[in-house]
Amino acid sequence: MAPAVLHGSSAVSLKATNMETIEIGKRRLAYLRRGDCGPVLMLVHGFPLDHTMWKFQIEAFADRCRVIAVDLRGFGESSSQDETVTMERYADDCALLLDDLEIREPITYCGLSMGGYVGWQFWKRHRPRLERFVLCDTKAKADNDEVARGRQRMAYEVLAKGAGIVVDSMLPRLFAPATFRNHPERVADLERVMRATSPSAIAAALRGMASRMDVTGWLASIELPTLVICGVEDEISRPEEMEAIAGAMPAARFVCLPEAGHMSPLENPDAFNRSLEAFLFSV
Ligand code: MLT
Repeated sequence: MAPAVLHGSSAVSLKATNMETIEIGKRRLAYLRRGDCGPVLMLVHGFPLDHTMWKFQIEAFADRCRVIAVDLRGFGESSSQDETVTMERYADDCALLLDDLEIREPITYCGLSMGGYVGWQFWKRHRPRLERFVLCDTKAKADNDEVARGRQRMAYEVLAKGAGIVVDSMLPRLFAPATFRNHPERVADLERVMRATSPSAIAAALRGMASRMDVTGWLASIELPTLVICGVEDEISRPEEMEAIAGAMPAARFVCLPEAGHMSPLENPDAFNRSLEAFLFSV
């Protein structure tokens, strides 16, 4: 049976509900936990977002998974004091969270875009903790020089002018035209999250992404069962690029979702959840 997809207020009101926290150094790492049986499904958001981007997955999978939706360092309810946060650091935070929750068995890690960049490092640094991998709308390549310089510039500007400049440059590219037309409330929810994000956390992540490594050479060694999933209209992580990632991984399957852009779990949750369900529970 496919999991229920919640489109109503119970899915949308996650933000206010029962976040838990751990301390890492002097920082607070917040996460939402749902479900008390089945495999552990860790959901890791993109930039500059928080766990609420998974609102259509969290409750839908909580009847058969132990879902953990993280707010990465500086985002959502988590705090940060860092000038730069590397993908390695975010990955280590996720591992520390699992330690704190005393989760020893291998998990399914599911990350979107920046959450995928973090996922590569989670695999590299915490491999025994992984049973399955879900990579949504992400890339394996590093930034080229021009993109990396643009991120450095944006980090500087966001500190001077606030989160609005990131919203203005990113929001139009995050969704498929059909989402802007048919689900303006989803766009508005995400925009609110982006505008509320602290400029210093945005700058720290931009610097971290600018310096991230190219992991294309790792793909052939990632033998985990992997689902690579992408919105057909994703302008940021193109479907061709994601299909090539899946092709280079020994045990990956590629799914391209209709009526979705970069935010595929939020834009076409029915199709996304069906693919995730089949991946997690089919033999
Ligand atoms: C994201 O959605 O996390 C961003 O598009 C990642 C990026 O800027 O490369």
